[in-house]
Amino acid sequence: MPQKATYQFGLIGLGVMGRNFILNVAEKGFRALGYDLDQTQVKALQQAGGDLSKVNATTDLAVFVQGLESPRKIMLLVPAGAPVDAVIEKLLPHVEAGDLIIDGGNSYFTDTDRREGYLGPKGIHFFGAGVSGGADGARRGPSIMPGGDREAYVKVQPIFEAVAARYKEAPCVAYLGPKSAGNYVKMVHNGIEYGLMQLISEVYDLLKQEGGLSNKQLAAEFGRWNRGRLQSFLVEISAAIFGQKDPLGTGELVDAILDRAQQKGTGKWTSQNAMDLGVPVPTIDISVSMRAISAMKELRVAAQNRYTKPTAGEGRTGLVSDCEAALYFAFLLTYTQGLHQLSEASREYGYGLDLATVARIWRAGCIIRSAALEPIAETYEQQPDLSNLMLADAFRGPLQQASPAARRVAAHAVSTGIPMPALCSALSYFDAFTSGRLPMNLIQAQRDYFGSHTYQRVDRDGTFHTNWDGKAS
Ligand code: 6PG
Repeated sequence: MPQKATYQFGLIGLGVMGRNFILNVAEKGFRALGYDLDQTQVKALQQAGGDLSKVNATTDLAVFVQGLESPRKIMLLVPAGAPVDAVIEKLLPHVEAGDLIIDGGNSYFTDTDRREGYLGPKGIHFFGAGVSGGADGARRGPSIMPGGDREAYVKVQPIFEAVAARYKEAPCVAYLGPKSAGNYVKMVHNGIEYGLMQLISEVYDLLKQEGGLSNKQLAAEFGRWNRGRLQSFLVEISAAIFGQKDPLGTGELVDAILDRAQQKGTGKWTSQNAMDLGVPVPTIDISVSMRAISAMKELRVAAQNRYTKPTAGEGRTGLVSDCEAALYFAFLLTYTQGLHQLSEASREYGYGLDLATVARIWRAGCIIRSAALEPIAETYEQQPDLSNLMLADAFRGPLQQASPAARRVAAHAVSTGIPMPALCSALSYFDAFTSGRLPMNLIQAQRDYFGSHTYQRVDRDGTFHTNWDGKAS
């Protein structure tokens, strides 16, 4: 290990993501140094990198920090929560004013604000930079969502732009805003990811159970969809998954996988914060709940034995093409919900987000990349203050045209007892948002009836209360 500071980028946490990210940095011509407590991870990186002058690693934190050029650029790829605070505490005695610490994990945004507040007075720039694309993305080009101090970002910008995924030459990384803007955008990215994944799984269920499609047919249909308006990473990998043989059995692997979805919390955080902001993201909400329901396998099996499902539906005429249109419709509305949340959060937290930039850096590298993001980016370029995509001219036609198929699919699901709550929620969200009049007059009347909460009238200004039951209050 050289005694001089010769490396341009440091990375803490050499798990699969970390190793792949640092190899990517080194491949783009930046000398990179990794740190991990685990000697086997250090060895694995040294072996994978080959040339130690270009990429090296150590288990000694002091050696690691001393090996980095000033101002040091140190990225953390460690699990969110307490491990991030622990690493920061260990780093503090070694780093100097002007150095940058970049948290590349899925940290909760208020943790990022707290850490920035803690490190700022010490002269250390703290950055939350969401990284999406999984292990493969980290190695070949992720989408990176940085936020924090703009001047500090400039120091790491050339490295991030070199390693990020490219969409037609444009790097999928951009400075998004101050404070926790980067982590917040990544959190909502993950909320949208939950929604899209749930929608795909529902359509799969309907096509398999009602349409009678085999895994081979599903692979073919999803592959075809992926060549059209539904072109997206998640549809593409779903097609590949349907075709994967089971190495331990006879059929396809997907049928042998337990139907219990896990989660690490980012989808739930998106939902929770949307509630705090008062922004409706029902498709994301229900996707989080569906993971929770899926985890209750024993209860589901017990309940299944107590009820009967309706008999099969009326066959499969048009079901596949309806599912394609319904999925497209619900995909658009899931992006709509997430972006609406971002526009409200930007106002509330002072992020100053440019939603066209957000959509642009999601076009490649990340898990929610899809063809739909190109027109979304164009729309926000033309209307930066647009709060809800449903009000954009470019989406009026596509949503209107796909809505009858979404209704047929939802009706089919409801009448046959196949759970498609994310699709139904997207449709109800569309119907609610396009209803100039909702039945909330009755809710206001009820609130006033039992709690004297008052109401407003449609025909005159002011606040009113009625003694509904004529009793003395
Ligand atoms: C990404 C993903 C990633 C996330 C996984 C798992 O953008 O690369 O969002 O950051 O950790 O998708 O998330 P869950 O365990 O919550 O499903």
